[in-house]
Amino acid sequence: MTGRMDLKLVQRDASGVDLAFRADVLAGLAEPQKAVPARWFYDDTGSRLFEDITRLPEYYPTRAETEILTTRASEIAELIGPGRAVVEFGSGSSVKTPLLLSAIRPLAYVPLDIAGDFLRVSSAALAEKFPGLPVYPVEADFMRRVELPAEVTSLPKLGFFPGSTIGNMIARTATDLLRSMRATLGEGALLLIGMDLVKDEDVLLAAYDDVAGVTARFNLNLAERINRELGGDIPVDKLRHEARWNDPFARIEMHLVATADIAFTVSGQAFSMRAGESIHTENSHKFTKRSSQLLLAAGGWEPLARWTDALGQFSLVLAESRPPRSAP
Ligand code: AVJ
Repeated sequence: MTGRMDLKLVQRDASGVDLAFRADVLAGLAEPQKAVPARWFYDDTGSRLFEDITRLPEYYPTRAETEILTTRASEIAELIGPGRAVVEFGSGSSVKTPLLLSAIRPLAYVPLDIAGDFLRVSSAALAEKFPGLPVYPVEADFMRRVELPAEVTSLPKLGFFPGSTIGNMIARTATDLLRSMRATLGEGALLLIGMDLVKDEDVLLAAYDDVAGVTARFNLNLAERINRELGGDIPVDKLRHEARWNDPFARIEMHLVATADIAFTVSGQAFSMRAGESIHTENSHKFTKRSSQLLLAAGGWEPLARWTDALGQFSLVLAESRPPRSAP
């Protein structure tokens, strides 16, 4: 194991509490509009629930993006060309990564993830599926520029960021990430990025508030996780899941709404909520062709091609890294 892999990215106190989790929760619950960053959904239970979400009839994004990668594989491969190292932002646990890798036959695969255990398991599975493909997992926070393994420095890169995870970020954070990706991937890089599309409000709301209640459990698990890991006593039975469409920002928001006046503590700190008050737990921005182009441009990427599924619900964009310029 290399020195890089041994670097502990998740800092814990003596009793095993994730310090960044605690800091985010305590700061977020102290805000006038309570909020907890969506990245904290994904403990073991949350990751399992998200897998369940991707199979729900109402949740179209995963199926739509998989359809694009399947039906357009040869076109995508044609434009990307051979000889690249694929750098995935987040370790590919899904069926999407094998679809891409078998379509373009890259020279190396570099999954980046902050969760080292998950990264090692998914890397081993991929390496088994693609014998002969060098896999170089890197445990890193890809919100910053990442130093890639020496074995791939001379290869041209293709960044892969599926799932419309970019949509979880507000414009400023998304732009910072796109710029970091340019810095990580270097000169001549391409980026293949999933971006979910604006559509009928009812379709969007159903995708984030399914009849079976899986998304509700996913959202409520965040409060349960806070109780489990941060010694909290949030009365989870007095919170209900709500999905809202925020039209000015073109995003679905998930909230945990208090159904009564409540008071609770987290890590010894006291908080209270009035009935109807909420904890904002997720933004999931939806894009148009124009808004996706604008966001990518702000991050230094120029779209070369875009594909949608047959129903026009989801887009996959291939973009090229562009040097900054001030001329029109
Ligand atoms: C994987 C983060 C893109 O925003 O659609 C699914 C997460 N949240 N249902 C999304 C999610 C509620 C998902 N992302």
